[in-house]
Amino acid sequence: MSEDSTPKKALAAVKGTHDILPGEVELWQKVEAEVSALFGRYGYRELRAPVIEPTELFEKGTGRTTDIVQKEMYTFTDKGGRSITLRPEYTPSVARAIVEHRLDLLGTPMRYYYIGPMFRYDKPQKGRYRQFHQIDAEVFGEKDPAVDAEIIEMADTMLRILGVTGTETLVNSVGCKTCRPAYARALRTQAEKVRDGLCEDCRRKIETNPLRIFDCKVAACRELAASFPAIPEFLCSECRDHFAGVRKMLDLSGVACRFEPALVRGLDYYTKTAFEVVQTGAGQQNAVLGGGRYDDMMKDFGGPDICGIGFACGVERLIALLTLTPEPRRFVYIVHAGDAAKAKAVELARRFRAAGVETLLEFAGRGFKSQFGRASKLGASWVLIIGEDELARGEFLLKDMATGSQTSGTPDALIKMLL
Ligand code: HAM
Repeated sequence: MSEDSTPKKALAAVKGTHDILPGEVELWQKVEAEVSALFGRYGYRELRAPVIEPTELFEKGTGRTTDIVQKEMYTFTDKGGRSITLRPEYTPSVARAIVEHRLDLLGTPMRYYYIGPMFRYDKPQKGRYRQFHQIDAEVFGEKDPAVDAEIIEMADTMLRILGVTGTETLVNSVGCKTCRPAYARALRTQAEKVRDGLCEDCRRKIETNPLRIFDCKVAACRELAASFPAIPEFLCSECRDHFAGVRKMLDLSGVACRFEPALVRGLDYYTKTAFEVVQTGAGQQNAVLGGGRYDDMMKDFGGPDICGIGFACGVERLIALLTLTPEPRRFVYIVHAGDAAKAKAVELARRFRAAGVETLLEFAGRGFKSQFGRASKLGASWVLIIGEDELARGEFLLKDMATGSQTSGTPDALIKMLL
């Protein structure tokens, strides 16, 4: 490696990861605040789990045949010889936390949410990153189809209050352990007939999980899959009734949804309801959020038999759809010259901040003009001037940078004016 390439590499973010800089982060904060408040109104409480988990949690939870577990996990052995994974998704962590802390004993249904980073070693491209963020919501212990409809309605409301347009909500039922095997057999039979036309990945899926063929992005596979048997004909009566209930409740809640029998989702744990919100007309990375019911996960972990349903929304994909602009920051910039003025500036900054006014000042000892230039470059709303006259009078000049108007007053009077 050449001498000059080393620092360059060390000073660039890891491929597929990105910084969220001031200027962008305000929008993230606004989204996080709006979403937390909305989910709170539906009775969700925040549950923060560690970023690292035992690898086995995802092998068991997310599923061994998924792309996530087979190809995309950031897994390493720690110094104690344990296999550790940076979480690729959040759902298994919530299920683990419930079992570990016996949160089920607090009574059901349990509603939890979280907003934070996930990690998948995937090919980075627009809308697909190696560190990305999810808004995740999960409900446990509620079998009624009304909760499926409620969580889809909550996801829809989230998008609406953030001003997202141009999306479509797709729903399906992927059946359960009782009815899916017969469907998988029918798919296998059909897929075998067109094996040669399928991509290598889909040929593998014929054995491992034929439903996943519907998820393939290759045009030829999609065309062939369009003629495969559809799941509704195979649903057992329990799944059929449940799905009819979900659709009825969705109609009542007024959420516009399209029934999509080819929607299968890329994770192993789903039972019954599956749903996605996709950006209409977008390219391959068009799912803004996805989720579904997973009634067996907790039991399969060896925990209590508690059903679950949830969704996760990709924050980067969501932010890309937003036209919202956060309120601009409004702050005072204090210009001062000389030691006595500097001491007064520090004192006033403390008083202004304590009163709730954002206040900036710098200590480089520059002249008034250059401090004014800096204030205007930073976008200060007001400049507070501390010169000799002001110090002597105990009254200070506040200039409104937008209108140019100036007001003189005691610190208390100025604070009152600014609040
Ligand atoms: P998922 O479909 O794997 O589901 O991911 C949910 C969302 O995360 C996607 O719709 C997408 O917006 C975003 N996403 C996924 N991978 C990436 C990536 N590499 N870069 C950027 N965004 C990405 C789950 O993760 C399930 N845990 C959802 C769930 C919760 N099901 C039940 N409860």
